[in-house]
Amino acid sequence: MKTLNEIYNKYSSPEGSGDKGTAHSYIEKYYNKRFIDIRYERLNILEIGVSTGLSLEMWSEYFPNSKIIGVEIEKIDYKPSNKRITVIKGDATDSKTFSSIDSLDLIIDDGSHIFTDQIFTFAILYHKLKRKGLYIIEDVRNIDSVGIFFRRLSHNAKIFDFRKLKDRNDDVIVEITK
Ligand SMILES: C[S@@+](CC[C@H](N)C(=O)[O-])C[C@H]1O[C@@H](n2cnc3c(N)ncnc32)[C@H](O)[C@@H]1O
Repeated sequence: MKTLNEIYNKYSSPEGSGDKGTAHSYIEKYYNKRFIDIRYERLNILEIGVSTGLSLEMWSEYFPNSKIIGVEIEKIDYKPSNKRITVIKGDATDSKTFSSIDSLDLIIDDGSHIFTDQIFTFAILYHKLKRKGLYIIEDVRNIDSVGIFFRRLSHNAKIFDFRKLKDRNDDVIVEITK
């Protein structure tokens, strides 16, 4: 079985899409360790922000028994390679977008990366997350000032701060376990 790193390398592109392990440090420093124990479970996974679809393809290969849903606000050309992946067109800050979805095990917000959007989407989706489910927000900007708000949002919020590794202000993940 391929590691997440190997799968990521297959799907990341020089054009800059699929930047979780290139511009950012998430694959090597966070996802590799965080997902290893749940890889073969039957999970319902939702990612906000599809773009070219490369990360949905990556998750689908890494989690062979899971369903992957992507949510994207823009019209995109991406066609999923298999039936475990579906894409919903809609705005992640609008609850209507998620009306067909419930019981999620894992949510990854890689959408607009705007703080207020991240909070709105969390407020909409948290009740759809199963107990012990994981809510992950990528590219959290200005963590020195906004970290306190994520901690107020949940006592289980953890901040993974990789800013020094690639000298990027937004190389930060907030993880909330239900
Ligand atoms: C960083 S890209 C996603 C990249 C993808 N997850 C990957 O790793 O390959 C962010 C995407 O989020 C979409 N987006 C921005 N705001 C959104 C919103 N409010 N609702 C849904 N999608 C949004 C953008 O159109 C863009 O395609």
